[in-house]
Amino acid sequence: MNYLADSSRYDNMEYRRCGRSGLKLPAISLGLWHNFGGVDVFENYRDMLRTAFDKGVTHFDLANNYGPPPGSAEENFGVIFKKDFLPYRDELVISSKAGYLMWPGPYGEWGSRKYVMASCDQSLKRMGLDYVDIFYSHRFDPNTPLEETMGALDSIVRQGKALYVGISSYTAEQTLEAVKILKELGTPCLIHQPKYSMLDRWVEAPTPAGSLLDVLGDKGIGCIPFSPLAQGLLSNKYLNGIPEGSRAALPHGFLQESAITPEVIEKLKALDTLAQQRGQSLAQMALAWLLKDQRVTSVLIGASRTSQLLDSLESLNNTNFSTEELNKIEEILA
Ligand SMILES: NC(=O)c1ccc[n+]([C@@H]2O[C@H](COP(=O)([O-])OP(=O)(O)OC[C@H]3O[C@@H](n4cnc5c(N)ncnc54)[C@H](OP(=O)(O)O)[C@@H]3O)[C@@H](O)[C@H]2O)c1
Repeated sequence: MNYLADSSRYDNMEYRRCGRSGLKLPAISLGLWHNFGGVDVFENYRDMLRTAFDKGVTHFDLANNYGPPPGSAEENFGVIFKKDFLPYRDELVISSKAGYLMWPGPYGEWGSRKYVMASCDQSLKRMGLDYVDIFYSHRFDPNTPLEETMGALDSIVRQGKALYVGISSYTAEQTLEAVKILKELGTPCLIHQPKYSMLDRWVEAPTPAGSLLDVLGDKGIGCIPFSPLAQGLLSNKYLNGIPEGSRAALPHGFLQESAITPEVIEKLKALDTLAQQRGQSLAQMALAWLLKDQRVTSVLIGASRTSQLLDSLESLNNTNFSTEELNKIEEILA
């Protein structure tokens, strides 16, 4: 059946300005790392994408290597884009990245101009797009001059293949350097995509350059935390073992069973109790907790089914925390 987007799709979503740029992103964005690959079910991921857009989620995040197999998430997205989203292209912010291993040989990963520019071309072809809205350097390359990697991002924008550029998982110091180079090139850094959740708070940690969050706030760069639910740990699903079909149970899932320790479970149980007192699920509270900081432009969630997506979207109904609640969370996470 032809897809017609819900006419009320902009009624309930909150849109936040991405740093000091002109671009706004939905407070919740959807990533296609897991559950949209060649091993997954077409009707399931199509329904998630349609539902997301119907609820005002205008931002879909991809990368060259998402699958498995690598590249298949972009291919599958391309099929659905053509069938369902073509009329809505100007309402969507689509991102992709290059940095991790994509093809064999010396030019298939990291940050050389050779790799980054070829990878962008490949991503556009797989998705059937003329341009992406944001193109990222997926990881810092210690063996390539940063000027070369940032120069490749700048060229991609000048060639009309991306509108904005971003960086992912760069430290505070690397971020400052990248931001400076990009500014000199005339293509400002729009956004940083770091791993950030209640269970992984490296972005808050002080460094000689300041914390990454402080650097992003000072420089007017957006922040879009990935794995905000710690790959599903920050939900009630692992409180009593590892359920069948969950990411920790999947052979190709990135979440390792070894991450689910008794100490983590104890914290999750205490957080779950607090979430219930707030009238939220643990997943909803974990997302709301990130969104309380206005430097966080959007949280980049994953989902394996539409019901999870709908559950996570409900987090926007309560993003306020009392001082007591915040103190309690610090106590639990300590
Ligand atoms: N830049 C980078 O290097 C990088 C790295 C990783 C991810 N990312 C981006 O970030 C996106 C999100 O990462 P992620 O998938 O790890 O995010 P996440 O939101 O932390 O985890 C998603 C998983 O949590 C579970 N889940 C989601 N909503 C739930 C809910 N309401 N209740 C219970 N369980 C729920 C599902 O697990 P089950 O599958 O077990 O049901 C889902 O697959 C990726 O798709 C990608 O776009 C970027």
